[in-house]
Amino acid sequence: MGILSGKKGIITGALDQNSIAWKVAELCHQEGASVVLTNAPIAMRLGEIKKLSEKINATIIPADATNLEDIEKLYRESMQHLGGKIDFVLHSIGMSTNIRKNIPYTELNYDYYIKGIDVSALSLHKMLSIAYKLDAINEEGSVVALSYIGAQRTFPFYTDMADIKALLESIARSWGYHYGIAKRVRVNTISQSPTKTTAGTGIKGFNEFFDFADIQSPLGNATAEDCAKICIMLFSDYTKKITMQNIYNDGGYSSTGVSQKQLDILLSNVNNN
Ligand SMILES: NC(=O)c1ccc[n+]([C@@H]2O[C@H](COP(=O)([O-])OP(=O)(O)OC[C@H]3O[C@@H](n4cnc5c(N)ncnc54)[C@H](O)[C@@H]3O)[C@@H](O)[C@H]2O)c1
Repeated sequence: MGILSGKKGIITGALDQNSIAWKVAELCHQEGASVVLTNAPIAMRLGEIKKLSEKINATIIPADATNLEDIEKLYRESMQHLGGKIDFVLHSIGMSTNIRKNIPYTELNYDYYIKGIDVSALSLHKMLSIAYKLDAINEEGSVVALSYIGAQRTFPFYTDMADIKALLESIARSWGYHYGIAKRVRVNTISQSPTKTTAGTGIKGFNEFFDFADIQSPLGNATAEDCAKICIMLFSDYTKKITMQNIYNDGGYSSTGVSQKQLDILLSNVNNN
């Protein structure tokens, strides 16, 4: 008996085995949940998600998370496959063409910016609004979206995604209120450490920043597996009163001004020059 025994969930964003969503799906299965996997139709062509679906015995339903019809189909078919309403949803979707093309914040392309907002933030709004309309999520269900501390503090390389994550976190709070009042559904975000995934490593200078964050955090960077454990906790019945929160899963990074290790590296560089 796992802590998600008997629960039914939808997991977005498992692209390959490095994806945070991949680890969440595996742990959900291990903890007794039945899940439907979904991703953008284009991600299906890579074929990796099929391996995961076979491993955890999950159905795949392709859906572009910016498309309302796709989302409605996703919920309707998921409820059919899983035999009832959904208990939890993971939103693990992020994409910025400005970042991918290495365009600085001061010169953002607005078409890319708007696309980034739609894919990475409005998609959460759309997924919740369709669920609400269809009454697809069980009372006391749980929705989790993944964020980054760039929503609160400035990191130059994070360009438009900083603004987009701030919107994502606000959408989670607003829906947490409305869905909470209506159905006691929780909505939270997890602010995750830099993690070596396709989306993460697409950011210029990611490896250097990954090491910086690891040295800065008293507990070191949180891995995708660590993130999966927090997701499972939030999907479970042990967290029924946690909602509208942004939970830092970052080894203490967000509360550290500077670590001694960071200062020591700086000092040794100064002494060597
Ligand atoms: N990797 C990191 O350093 C890090 C840190 C904090 C937060 N996050 C967040 O975690 C989440 C998951 O990213 P990841 O790091 O696992 O990378 P990933 O590249 O494995 O996952 C991103 C997913 O978004 C999906 N996606 C893109 N456009 C879509 C669309 N239109 N419809 C449906 N799905 C779409 C992709 O196919 C992919 O599966 C993202 O929200 C990301 O911003 C990542």
